[in-house]
Amino acid sequence: MPAPLPDGQLIIRRMTAADVPLAMQLTIQAGWNQLPGDWLRMLDLEPDGCLVAEVDGTLVGTTVCCTFAEIAWLALVLVDTAFRERGIGRRLVAAGLQYAEDSGVRTVRLDATPLGRPVYERLGFRPQFELSRWGGTPSGSAVEQMRPRGVVEASHAAEFEPLFALERLATRTNRKKLLQRLFAESPPVVVTGSNGLVESFLTRRPGRLSTQIGPGIGSRESCQWLLWRELNAYRGQPVIIDIPVDRTDLNTIAQQAGLTVQRTLLRMYRGGSILENPEMFQISSGAELG
Ligand SMILES: CC(C)(COP(=O)(O)OP(=O)(O)OC[C@H]1O[C@@H](n2cnc3c(N)ncnc32)[C@H](O)[C@@H]1OP(=O)(O)O)[C@@H](O)C(=O)NCCC(=O)NCCS
Repeated sequence: MPAPLPDGQLIIRRMTAADVPLAMQLTIQAGWNQLPGDWLRMLDLEPDGCLVAEVDGTLVGTTVCCTFAEIAWLALVLVDTAFRERGIGRRLVAAGLQYAEDSGVRTVRLDATPLGRPVYERLGFRPQFELSRWGGTPSGSAVEQMRPRGVVEASHAAEFEPLFALERLATRTNRKKLLQRLFAESPPVVVTGSNGLVESFLTRRPGRLSTQIGPGIGSRESCQWLLWRELNAYRGQPVIIDIPVDRTDLNTIAQQAGLTVQRTLLRMYRGGSILENPEMFQISSGAELG
């Protein structure tokens, strides 16, 4: 195994917009799906939580820690293949944890890849649940039979408020700052019940390789329909979707639409335990957003 880098040789510093092209090189090297806009969104939302590792002036690693009051989401932990297993990933995650602690965070959460797990376990992260990453090009579906009433595309700020509240109940985290941004980029599709209350919503965002479908939040039945609707809309175009493994119905829909499981992600936490409401949390926003 290569020797760890001496302290002076490795610098962890704040990321800037000028680093995004190099961060994208790491994204491409790892086969990940982010676009420059994903990095820039995080820089806007949490400028001090976006960190890079440099060795001799060259960017070799990244991480992003996005805070939501007492909860933080840690993501985009990436180290250049030529510099792996030399302690850089651990130093980046430790710096992210320090930033979270300095910001008053009590729980840090993340979705770990198999490569990330040993790094996080050694830093005290514990497992919560697994998600399946489905990917592929959807074929058609029998969506029309299930069509619910009250489906709209929400595009005005006033329409978003009930969605923030619903997502907060589902994730037990106030993620309004992130959702506001995602909804502005791609209007969510919303199902409203006969009582006029929002039952569920689903959105998506473009990616380098595939459109990432999610988050999908709300009642199980209406999220089933929203997923079918979305898979129909993206027929013939590559998509990825992260679904908790125990949401059998939604996993079955992904499979029936012709998608396959590309990998399993492990949701982990460090600090106080916060767990999504399984009745309402149906489709994740994706590994870098939770
Ligand atoms: C995951 C990743 C960031 C780790 O970066 P790294 O710089 O190689 O990790 P480190 O050298 O700091 O390793 C930290 C610890 O994890 C262990 N570790 C790292 N990679 C490992 C591997 N492939 N197998 C087993 N243990 C491993 C190290 O031995 C080290 O343990 P120690 O602290 O007891 O010495 C890197 O492999 C990577 O970029 N992978 C692709 C992207 C990815 O999957 N990121 C994780 C997202 S959740």
